[in-house]
Amino acid sequence: MKILVTGATGNVGRHVVRGLVERGADVRALTRHVTAARFPAGVDVVEGDLSAPESLAAAFAGIDRLFLFPLAYLRPTPRGFDDVVDTQAVVAVAQAAGVERIVTMTSDDGFRELELAVEATGSEWTHVRPGEFMANRLDMWAHTIRTDDTVRTAHPEARGVPVHEADIADVAVTALLDDGHSGVAYHVTGPEALTLREQAAAIATGVGRPLRFVELTPAEATAQMREQGILEEVIETEFVGGLAAQVGTFPTPAATVEQVTGHPGRTMVHWAADHRADFAR
Ligand SMILES: NC(=O)c1ccc[n+]([C@@H]2O[C@H](COP(=O)([O-])OP(=O)(O)OC[C@H]3O[C@@H](n4cnc5c(N)ncnc54)[C@H](OP(=O)(O)O)[C@@H]3O)[C@@H](O)[C@H]2O)c1
Repeated sequence: MKILVTGATGNVGRHVVRGLVERGADVRALTRHVTAARFPAGVDVVEGDLSAPESLAAAFAGIDRLFLFPLAYLRPTPRGFDDVVDTQAVVAVAQAAGVERIVTMTSDDGFRELELAVEATGSEWTHVRPGEFMANRLDMWAHTIRTDDTVRTAHPEARGVPVHEADIADVAVTALLDDGHSGVAYHVTGPEALTLREQAAAIATGVGRPLRFVELTPAEATAQMREQGILEEVIETEFVGGLAAQVGTFPTPAATVEQVTGHPGRTMVHWAADHRADFAR
């Protein structure tokens, strides 16, 4: 049984590849940059671009199961949003290849078009819907933590339940390999509800050095991000406007990771320790 992982070099996809390999699966990884990508030994690496579905037939040939990275609008990065991909066309390639089981990574508030396209293929499907990633703190904070041990942010009391990318992947790996997850949508969060101030403290513990926390006004936070070249739309949706909406909320951690994988969700301290090199001075 061969499993294709799309988004295989990404925050989540690289853990999907690792988790599948650890369980002895036969894995093919899709990337646009075959020579640059690093994968565990034994992984069959193929080049492909999801925005050019007509070029994907070889990558999908002989595939039984698929981890389908969200395609409709890729993750906003400080450099902007990646290109929009034709969801229906990519799912049609999977269907034509006879893929029997598709595990999507989507979210609670988007990607329904992708999910519906997958459901319409007649394959077994599972939707893994993570909330905000702990990895977002790399985009937001790693630069100043590396430079002067400081977290500078607006809305320090914004509260979320960020999830370790490895936990999202563990849920996906379970759904790819084990039975009993077909036709289910899993809402996946981290194990703790934490304010930004508490998240900064957790990162300090995880990386093993004290960090200063500086509260910015929304205007100061916006100016700081403009200086870093972050796009206006990303500043508003992700960093400033998005966080304002999380102040005074009390989100409940979901039990999904433990229920599906059998292990508790990884804490933010654990996540920061895993990313110590990303935060190193
Ligand atoms: N951040 C959050 O809080 C959050 C929450 C819920 C859902 N999500 C969703 O999760 C996704 C981000 O996941 P991530 O952080 O794991 O990804 P990521 O680290 O941003 O990595 C992006 C991946 O997409 C691949 N990719 C980009 N364009 C491609 C193309 N045209 N063809 C083929 N592959 C392409 C890249 O592969 P190569 O460069 O190797 O080709 C890479 O593996 C987004 O869609 C986002 O909406 C994010």
